[in-house]
Amino acid sequence: MIPVNQPLLDGREREYLIECIDSGWISSEGPFVARFEAEFASRVGRRHGIAVCNGTSALDAAVAALDIASGDEVIMPTFTIISCIGQVIRCGATPVLVDSDPVTWNMDVSEVEAKVTSRTKAIIVVHIYGLPVDIDPLLEIAARYGLKVIEDAAEMLGQEYRGRPCGSFGDLSTFSFYPNKHITTGEGGMIVTDSDALAERCRSLRNLCFQADRRFVHEELGWNLRMTNLQAALGLAQLERLDEVVVRKRMMGARYDALLADIPGISLPCPATDFARNIYWVYGLVLDDDLPFEAEEAMRRLAERKIGSRPFFWCMHEQPAFRRRGMFAGETYPVAERMARRGFYIPSGVALTESQIDQVTTAVREILHA
Ligand SMILES: Cc1ncc(COP(=O)(O)O)c(C=O)c1O
Repeated sequence: MIPVNQPLLDGREREYLIECIDSGWISSEGPFVARFEAEFASRVGRRHGIAVCNGTSALDAAVAALDIASGDEVIMPTFTIISCIGQVIRCGATPVLVDSDPVTWNMDVSEVEAKVTSRTKAIIVVHIYGLPVDIDPLLEIAARYGLKVIEDAAEMLGQEYRGRPCGSFGDLSTFSFYPNKHITTGEGGMIVTDSDALAERCRSLRNLCFQADRRFVHEELGWNLRMTNLQAALGLAQLERLDEVVVRKRMMGARYDALLADIPGISLPCPATDFARNIYWVYGLVLDDDLPFEAEEAMRRLAERKIGSRPFFWCMHEQPAFRRRGMFAGETYPVAERMARRGFYIPSGVALTESQIDQVTTAVREILHA
């Protein structure tokens, strides 16, 4: 089986992990955590990094840190992972969804301003699959209406928007280090910000809102979202090789582009816009409408040929968990709905070899026109 994703752990990961074991520092108190936070923040051009246990909790803490609460509205894409919406719903705020752009597969920025009301508190910007969101117009809207911005850059570490690093744009920006990401800590995440106050608040929320002077007296309810020293050791070693990862990802994308270009019936990722070159976090395909089957069938056929694949996101407004609560009734977002049904991605990990890419493309050709 060619896996859809496989991490590379052949840098200094082993050395740093042995250091943790030899020193006995394995919890979140260990020295790798602060080192990883500092190096990571500096890599994305930020003053503060707050390491957490995964990308979902990074988003949860970001929403909480901005005091988003019942009565507030938060604008976000419908085509995204459920992690973006969880804390918005749990805290009683209202998610306001926007459709996707059919070319970049990101949120359609031109729809955002019309969704702003007097209750809008924030925009959650999510960079999806390989190209960043066209963020300058969004920042301009946010500034004009006094909105906060959370930038979910989980899939976009190492990517740039008009030469500025992804992760450098939101009041708070978040990352994930799940093994399919550009760098991995097994499970893990990071919040970055330039604001001292927001950094302090995220640190407190991460650590159960313990207080320095009266530890077990809580003014606020937090979580335990701490990252361990073992995870941070991995993260630091991975970060040292990020440039190499970016090069490998773009080489993978270019090879797929060349080998898949002449196959009728599929749309490939947009290679570049005027604000960024695709980084191919994953290499997605969208089936044309004239093919008589959807992504599920394509993935089944690929699995028969021992090629791993994953479906695209399923839209937030079509989630049974929210529909059951009566949310998003009657709302439709046609571009995102089509992508969810006709989109999937093929093996895209950093460990993928050229000959595996060749095998995958041969299989894609066979299954589309079998
Ligand atoms: C855009 C995006 N945000 C958030 C997450 C959640 O991260 P985690 O799996 O670390 O909780 C992911 C992915 O896995 C993601 O792709």
